[in-house]
Amino acid sequence: MAENPELTRREFGRAALALGASAMLPGWMRAQELDAQPPSVSFSGPNSLRFHAAARGLLYGAAVNPALLDVDGVAAGGTNDIYALLVKEQAGIVVPENAMKWEGLRPAPSIFDFTQADRFMRSAALAGQKVRGHNLCWHEALPSWFKSTVNQANARTHLTRHIRTVAGHYRGQIHSWDVVNEAIDPEDGRPDGLRKTPWLELIGPDYLDLAFHTAAEADPHARLTYNDYGIELDSPDQTRKREAVLELLQGFKSRGVPIHAVGVQSHIQADGPQPGVGLKSFIREAGKMHLEVYVTEMDVNTHSLTGGPEAQDAAVAEVYRDYLTLVLAEPNVPIVLTWGITDANSWLNEMNEPWAKRKDGAKQRPLPFDENLKPAPAFFALRAAFDSAPPRRKRRG
Ligand code: G3I
Repeated sequence: MAENPELTRREFGRAALALGASAMLPGWMRAQELDAQPPSVSFSGPNSLRFHAAARGLLYGAAVNPALLDVDGVAAGGTNDIYALLVKEQAGIVVPENAMKWEGLRPAPSIFDFTQADRFMRSAALAGQKVRGHNLCWHEALPSWFKSTVNQANARTHLTRHIRTVAGHYRGQIHSWDVVNEAIDPEDGRPDGLRKTPWLELIGPDYLDLAFHTAAEADPHARLTYNDYGIELDSPDQTRKREAVLELLQGFKSRGVPIHAVGVQSHIQADGPQPGVGLKSFIREAGKMHLEVYVTEMDVNTHSLTGGPEAQDAAVAEVYRDYLTLVLAEPNVPIVLTWGITDANSWLNEMNEPWAKRKDGAKQRPLPFDENLKPAPAFFALRAAFDSAPPRRKRRG
């Protein structure tokens, strides 16, 4: 029996309104159903994170799972359409969580499969969003054939061909690439602090310079970024790692390596010590090197928090407020992305590790929208942090 299009459209309209995505509705539906909502409740259009960030010349965005995006026209019904609306409404910049990693692009040594990544790019283009590429060189998310195929004789060729092909495929469409991801780990004992990755073992320490130069040749329009985690706190180990990252950046600049930004992933624990003077100093040192600093993957880990959902949400919101107040006070921090936008699709709720699983078995609540795609206290904390940030040059929404 033919579906009742009126009913379907109305269902979708109600779902979109519930989401606060009224700006996405066709005029006739908005006229009938739109009710004025105060900013304390509404979160779409002028009340969205995208809008509030842009009003201060900032970009807010999120990691996105392209499989959840319906880019073939926004069909009615289904939570994926609401997820797509949420991403479109809230993010001015997006990054594919996994689709542009080696594992997501390279089913075989001689094959590049851009299907998912192109779907993601089409969705971002439809939404007028900027795109971060993530990532061109990492020791994780390597395809199953990597270990048996790549060796010291051919590693340089594999790395440069991958970067040339992928960055070339999206030439002119990428705001910034995470060219090398997580290459520093002082625990590995090297004087230069480099992590002992397959790339280091197969090519040597100059694999990083090679990656950045190759990316610059393949896409001179993209801002080239070094991205890392565990450099936010003033603890001894994070201070040591942060210093090693600074030395890496200074080395890049001294050798004329094309780099424009450093990504601070910002995976923060809800309880325990919070970032402070060390991070502020790091951001300023990067600024002296004419580097921008991007908050690339923020979320707030609540695995060890006691108390119920409300207590967790309040703690998470406080971390977002304090962290973003600290970093956005610095003029060379123009971008904030969260690693996901809803608790329903957070990597933290897919991990079975003790540092991710809550003892009470409840799901983590790390992101601006809860698992029912409703704005959490973190949403309002993010928005308030954008509102109180010193204004940068204005951006379009
Ligand atoms: O797609 C396959 C699926 O076909 C298969 O059935 C399933 C079970 O094996 O695996 C699926 O792939 C998984 C992929 O996520 C998509 O869900 C991979 O195994 C899994 O390793 C991968 O995890 C991602 C992880 O990076 C490693 O790439 C997480 O989603 C992603 O959130 C996480 O993101 C990283 C950043 O890239 C770098 N910074 C840290 C951050 C968190 O670890």
